[in-house]
Amino acid sequence: MARVDDVDSDRIKMSKAYGRWAPIYDAVYVRILKPGQLEAVRLAMACGPRILEVGVGTGLSLGYYPAQAELIGVDLSKAMLDKAAEKVAAQGLRQVKGLAVMDACRLGFPAARFDAVVSQYVITLVPDPEAALDEFARVVRPGGEIVLVNHLGADGGVVAAFEDLISPLARKVGWSTDFRLARIRAWAERAGFRLVSARKVAPVGFFTVIRLKDERAAQGIAASAA
Ligand SMILES: C[S@@+](CC[C@H](N)C(=O)[O-])C[C@H]1O[C@@H](n2cnc3c(N)ncnc32)[C@H](O)[C@@H]1O
Repeated sequence: MARVDDVDSDRIKMSKAYGRWAPIYDAVYVRILKPGQLEAVRLAMACGPRILEVGVGTGLSLGYYPAQAELIGVDLSKAMLDKAAEKVAAQGLRQVKGLAVMDACRLGFPAARFDAVVSQYVITLVPDPEAALDEFARVVRPGGEIVLVNHLGADGGVVAAFEDLISPLARKVGWSTDFRLARIRAWAERAGFRLVSARKVAPVGFFTVIRLKDERAAQGIAASAA
């Protein structure tokens, strides 16, 4: 397990790194990330309107949420969130009810506050991914879902070739290539969530959209009350 002071220094480094990315992030990633973002929004909205997006970044996905969404976005980087706030104002995104600087592992919301928690291209950047998933689980309502989008590391073939091609970009934003679905599955089994699906999306299946459904009550696992 990571030490607290190491984790804090990782967070500061991460926030600074994304402070440097913020001005150019959209130009580089808007098209690559769109298919996963559209799918994540679709799955989350099927759970209900109250959505938390963790690591919302510059808000590339905000405009994909329909008008009836009640969306809150959080991120470690104020510079990234400032870009998101610009989009909200420029595009009149009334479905965005709030944006706040927040760490994925310390969410300032009561238990069971959201129908779904979405986290796209983030979980592999967090020093303790299981702690973040525990926090997502805490703020999701009974029967709600966690929707993750991430690169999970290729096993070979065309995906591996594409990974080689874009790996300089991937490394720059901190995407790990050794994070496996098995790790999320293991967390889900422990936490009382069911891995409903893990579907590869364009471009060329480089990213995976993962759906985790809360089944704590059925499994007799107590949800965190705090
Ligand atoms: C690759 S970007 C993805 C941004 C956005 N989700 C998207 O789809 O464009 C990763 C984002 O995660 C944020 N992040 C990294 N670690 C985080 C943490 N522990 N808590 C909250 N946000 C974090 C970064 O600041 C950055 O904005």
